[in-house]
Amino acid sequence: MDQAQKKRNAAKASLEYIQDGYILGIGTGSTVNALIELLPSVRNKIDAVVSSSVATTEKLEQLGFEVATLNAVGDLDLYIDGADEATKHMHLIKGGGGALTREKVLAGAARKFVCIIDDSKLVGMLGRFPLPIEVIPMAQSFVSRRLVRMRGQPIWRENFVTDNGNHILDVHNLQITNPLELESRINQIPGIVCVGIFANRPADVLLIAEDSGVRTIGA
Ligand code: A5P
Repeated sequence: MDQAQKKRNAAKASLEYIQDGYILGIGTGSTVNALIELLPSVRNKIDAVVSSSVATTEKLEQLGFEVATLNAVGDLDLYIDGADEATKHMHLIKGGGGALTREKVLAGAARKFVCIIDDSKLVGMLGRFPLPIEVIPMAQSFVSRRLVRMRGQPIWRENFVTDNGNHILDVHNLQITNPLELESRINQIPGIVCVGIFANRPADVLLIAEDSGVRTIGA
């Protein structure tokens, strides 16, 4: 089965978590795009939808959804998003699409976070995928030097500006043996807006699309 079909399968499996009257948060990326295409089929269950990026907002609006702000709706019943890497402990790396900050805010605001991935994203230890970090532009060199001290190899994502007007450093070669600790430690560096480790607020449910079907971890 090709990866695109697996993404559609994971997206489809997440629909059953959407219940009547839900305030729903929607992530960013190609797996989520597959979900957005399916959302009209459950439109009548959704009270309000909040988006994690300009790209997702545009797609939702094209399908006739009115996108609410998080400030207007308060907390979310459910947040659905993809990931670049995930462990069976539901720790994630996110931000390959550069939307990590708003994604982390929505995950934090959600009662339940369902993460949809294909099986290529499931890893034993995070860090093969370069870790995205959003930084304010004036702090980019300073933050890079600090990350080198932590044995990372930060590469500036050229010609890319986040929805918040910031830059992304993709950090290679990090051994993320303790995601909780590393997330907290990187968060201490001034100038960082958000680190793409999602461990302090992990996913609650991981839906992993495999050749044989969609496997669920968590509840
Ligand atoms: C966006 O910033 C990311 O966090 C995405 O959620 C993640 O990169 C997964 O994207 P794909 O579904 O396109 O692999």
